Amino acid sequence: MAKVFVMDHPLVQHKVTMLRDKNTSTKDFRELAEEISLLMAYEVTRDLPLEDVEVETPICKTMAKTVSGRSLGIVPILRAGLGMVNGMLKLVPNAKVGHIGLYRDPKTLKPVEYYCKLPADATNRTLIVVDPMLATGGSAAAAIGFLKDRGCKNIKFCCLIAAPQGLKALQEAHPDVDIFIAALDKDLNDHAYIIPGLGDAGDRLFGTK
Ligand code: PRP
Ligand code: URA
Repeated sequence: MAKVFVMDHPLVQHKVTMLRDKNTSTKDFRELAEEISLLMAYEVTRDLPLEDVEVETPICKTMAKTVSGRSLGIVPILRAGLGMVNGMLKLVPNAKVGHIGLYRDPKTLKPVEYYCKLPADATNRTLIVVDPMLATGGSAAAAIGFLKDRGCKNIKFCCLIAAPQGLKALQEAHPDVDIFIAALDKDLNDHAYIIPGLGDAGDRLFGTK
C-alpha cells in the first residue's frame, strides 16, 4: 500500500481553519488554497530525483544538486482542482499542467468525465493529481483511472480535506498512489459533503453561490 501523509505543520493547520470559516471571502479562500497548496508541494516533491551539476560560486567550482528538469506534471480535477495549481507551480514552475474535467452527478454521486487534456509526455512524468476535496473518493479514483488508461504510471494525489470514506476508497482503487492531505475530517453527511469540511470547494473558490 502506498503512503498516506497528513500534513501536521502548524501553518497548514492554521490556514485550513481559515478556509473552513464560512465567513472567509472568495478572495481570501482562493489565496489560502494557493498558500496551502504551495506548502503541500514541499512535501509531495520530497522524493523528486536529483542530478549533479557543476556550479561556479564566487569562490570556486563545485558539484551540486539540481532537480531533474522535466519530471513533473500537475493535473487538477476541474473545476475546484484549479485552485491548487498556482500554489504548486510557485514551487515547481517547470511542471506541465494537464486537466481532467469531472463532475459529480448530484443524483447518482458518480463522476462523469467531460474533458481531458494532458501534456504530450505525460506518461514519462510523475503526475500530481490535485483536488481540494476527497469525499466519497469517486472523482479522484475515476480521474486516476483515466490517467492510467492513458498509460500514466507514477501518480500522486493531493487534496486539502479528506473524509475517511474517500481515503479508504481511493487506497483500495489505487493502492500504488501516495496520498497527501492537509486535514483528515471525520465523516460525510447524507449529501456526501465532508463533515466538518468547508462546504462546496468549487463554489467557494469561484464565488458561484
Ligand atoms: C467536488 C470536488 C471533487 C468532488 C469530490 O467537485 O472538487 O472533485 O466533488 O467528491 P467525491 O470524492 O465524492 O467524488 P464537484 O463535483 O462538486 O465539481 P466542481 O469542482 O465543478 O465544483
Ligand atoms: N465536494 C465539495 O466541494 N465539498 C464536499 O464536502 C464534498 C464534495
